[in-house]
Amino acid sequence: MAEATIWSVGGYAPPHILTNAMLSERMDTSDEWIRTRTGIQERRTAGPDETTASVSARAGQAALESLGFDPGDLDWVLVCTDTPEMWSPATACFVQESLGAKRASAIDLTGGCAGFLQTLQILGPLAASGQNVLVIGTELLTHALDWNDRSTAVLFGDGAGAFLLGPSDRGVSGIRIGPGLSQSDGSQADILGKPYGGTRHNITPDLVAEGKHHTIHMEGQKVFKHAVTMMSDIGRRLIQGANLTLDQIDWVVPHQANQRIIDAVSHQVGIPNERVFSHVAHFANTGSASIGMALADMLDRALLAPGQQLLSVAFGAGFSWASQLFTVDQIPPSRFIHEGSL
Ligand code: UT7
Repeated sequence: MAEATIWSVGGYAPPHILTNAMLSERMDTSDEWIRTRTGIQERRTAGPDETTASVSARAGQAALESLGFDPGDLDWVLVCTDTPEMWSPATACFVQESLGAKRASAIDLTGGCAGFLQTLQILGPLAASGQNVLVIGTELLTHALDWNDRSTAVLFGDGAGAFLLGPSDRGVSGIRIGPGLSQSDGSQADILGKPYGGTRHNITPDLVAEGKHHTIHMEGQKVFKHAVTMMSDIGRRLIQGANLTLDQIDWVVPHQANQRIIDAVSHQVGIPNERVFSHVAHFANTGSASIGMALADMLDRALLAPGQQLLSVAFGAGFSWASQLFTVDQIPPSRFIHEGSL
């Protein structure tokens, strides 16, 4: 029976770089504080003409073009995001149009920072059954920041990562999608999210006067504690369930939340830092985009080799958390667009 395979990978980081030093001119923070607490040095921000759909399309196109895949052959275009183009229609519809994926069905999924792995777990059987699926994780999180809240404003960035998925029996090899786990705990929904602007708290002039906009609210310390515990637990359970040993995991590709969280997870799971990928210093936390961008960057740096086993773990709003195993059968074609300017 065919298995779901990543045939190609695309990544897009918008060109504008926002450094910690630039942030410290805007608010009461410092490069030293941000680096020590998060490991972040800089993040990318979308330009004035860029939107979630256009950024998604750049990553999606990079994935398609790197394989020479005809967008007209796509069955599905999925965008996983918490910062959509608009309430309706789905961001994926704009992306479908701009890519020329004429006969594809387009839909969005929202799952916080774990959403991309959750989405892959839904899409795996679809791709294994023979459907050609383009899945793009995208965030323009800098559009959702309260610049008066220094404890969250310094953490996030913009970008997109895309995987072209298909079955393993079409003569195209790549990175096989293995088993995965995911879980949510909606009782923690108030701790991390973007509470205003939905139907519960419609944006009204009164709300805006109180300083309540479409921005991220987060209780940082609670998120930190849960993120480390849940990602470590779901990562370990997946390894055990797949009858693998820690030595057989060549790379951990974690959600790029922040370096302290990544270090604590690798310590708790028992995998040394050298085998844990991080580029959070340069791109910060890009939510649903982070794992796709990380894989695009790893391929760009030629860090992967056939035969390797990868473990991804993610945690975010919901709370939702997930783990996913991948097997590199062959290095898939990829393109990571990340030229930047200050
Ligand atoms: O995908 C998951 C997304 N979320 C995360 O990854 C965030 C998880 N949480 C964290 O990483 C950490 O909780 C933070 C980095 C957000 C904060 O670090 P912390 O060590 O938990 O700091 P804190 O909130 O306890 O704040 C310590 C101090 C406070 O000052 P006082 O009250 O001690 O005087 C804050 O006001 O640091 C202050 N502070 C800052 N100072 C300079 C908070 N943010 C900043 C800042 N610059 N940006």
